[in-house]
Amino acid sequence: MRSLTLHRSQIGSGPLILVNAAHPISQAQADLQLIPPHPRYPQITLERQAAHLLWALLQATDRMGVIVPVSGWRSQAQQQAIWDETLASEGEAFTKQYVALPGCSEHQTGLAMDLALDAPHIDFIRPHFPEDGVCGLFRRLAPQYGFIQRYQRHKASLTGIAEEPWHFRYVGVPHARLMTDHDLCLEEYGAFVQTHTPVCRLDNGRSCRVSYLPCTGESMDMILPDACCQLSGDNVGGFFLTVWGEEP
Ligand code: DAL
Ligand code: ZN
Repeated sequence: MRSLTLHRSQIGSGPLILVNAAHPISQAQADLQLIPPHPRYPQITLERQAAHLLWALLQATDRMGVIVPVSGWRSQAQQQAIWDETLASEGEAFTKQYVALPGCSEHQTGLAMDLALDAPHIDFIRPHFPEDGVCGLFRRLAPQYGFIQRYQRHKASLTGIAEEPWHFRYVGVPHARLMTDHDLCLEEYGAFVQTHTPVCRLDNGRSCRVSYLPCTGESMDMILPDACCQLSGDNVGGFFLTVWGEEP
């Protein structure tokens, strides 16, 4: 058993943070470690673990190297410039559908990447990432590497963003698998974990259990089991605890 003290400010960091118009990014993002996932595009970066897994996913699915990164981590100033330019050129309705408010974009977390099928001209706001072929294979295998297609058409009323087949969000394994298997967007995942405390059977025969810990004060003490554990804030009001084991 290990004891640990969690502080309320830590709710805003970790791979499962919900970032949308109602839940802006928190200042805790300041110590992000960013690296380029793709060696041919050193200026496009992601959070370190997300970058490693994206590269592994690309190597597993795209031997020809035709999937290219378009936009990864963005600063507040970059998101503001994208918002302002899109508003000026495309108008308010389009901008609200396809660009998150500055301060409320997953790109500012380093956990989201826009991808495109390589072409002479790539649309920066709506890159072409088709359903079939190598992009389809990438999309199907993405949950095994911890990625989800974040903005789906049938979830637009919950996410506030239109369908974006090109925008992939790292949430980690097993969460990407659970969200995909249960058809949940990130806005729905916290309530699902709170009511179900789900167990996910992994491909290697092991399994893991996800539970939710509401943050009840400025800090809280907890005991971790003697097993591989991961804690992530939800950027709403608590933490997800994932415990790996043979029979959790
Ligand atoms: N295109 C997504 C919604 C963003 O701007 O973060
Ligand atoms: Zn995006």
